Amino acid sequence: MARITASVYTSHVPAIGVAMDLQKTGEDYWKPLFAGYDFSRRWLRDNRPDVIFLVYNDHATAFSLDLIPTFALGTGAQFNPADEGWGARPVPVVQGHPELASHIAQSVIQQDFDLTLVNRMDVDHGLTVPLSLMCGEQDPVHGAWPCPVIPFHVNVVQYPVPSGQRCFQLGQAIRRAVESFDEDLNVQIWGTGGMSHQLQGARAGLINREWDNAWLDQMIADPAACAATPHIDYVREAGSEGIELVMWLIARGAMSDVAGSGRPPRVAHRFYHVPASNTAVGHLILENA
Ligand code: DHB
Ligand code: FE
Repeated sequence: MARITASVYTSHVPAIGVAMDLQKTGEDYWKPLFAGYDFSRRWLRDNRPDVIFLVYNDHATAFSLDLIPTFALGTGAQFNPADEGWGARPVPVVQGHPELASHIAQSVIQQDFDLTLVNRMDVDHGLTVPLSLMCGEQDPVHGAWPCPVIPFHVNVVQYPVPSGQRCFQLGQAIRRAVESFDEDLNVQIWGTGGMSHQLQGARAGLINREWDNAWLDQMIADPAACAATPHIDYVREAGSEGIELVMWLIARGAMSDVAGSGRPPRVAHRFYHVPASNTAVGHLILENA
């Protein structure tokens, strides 16, 4: 049987990808940010999964106002890095896992979550920046990401967006789906996006360090209560793009303690850093106890 062994959480910011692609990670501005991922890169080498289920949001790259899936599961064999306006990032093509993805589709849809299935899409910074942060630089031609990745997109860009509660319940359904897959696979689930940031309007540049850290404390210790955070609180406290944080609740909902079959997860690593462009970068690694 397949198992979810750990969950990883990290913000995404396009400029982080640019800093890596243009070899600027040693600059004073970026050094403290990347230092926060040194442990994580070692941890990922030591705890290499067979598959990563990567929850992220597309930013009007593969989707648009023409088509707005709330939850979209990548069932394809490959996903190309997207051109977001200045050429595709020089990173490897993402290899999918169609067998596990189609099993998850079957199981999660039968658990009453109506997913959109996507066999072809390009993946933007929402997916490639977390991979770059965790895996480090990769040769775009001869290199490869450490394992297959199942992309799972959540609409947090165009209203109405799903609630934290819905995301948390979906995570629980994904755990059941993974555990009913008939092959021994070590699966990690990653929740990405957030933390506080607002990219437009009068409050552009908003950061809320205190709220972010209180939210993290609660997400770790009492995820069910955290999942009840109303949508308006994210927008008021963490800015309009702070709503990306609901994606972290999918990963947290997939941990075994939520299902009542294990102790609270072990916090292997926690990091918080400002500034990185306009975003407060939060990062967490939780291991199932
Ligand atoms: C930034 C952050 C995001 O989450 C995003 O999607 C785009 C830009 C930023 O801080 O620059
Ligand atoms: Fe974003």
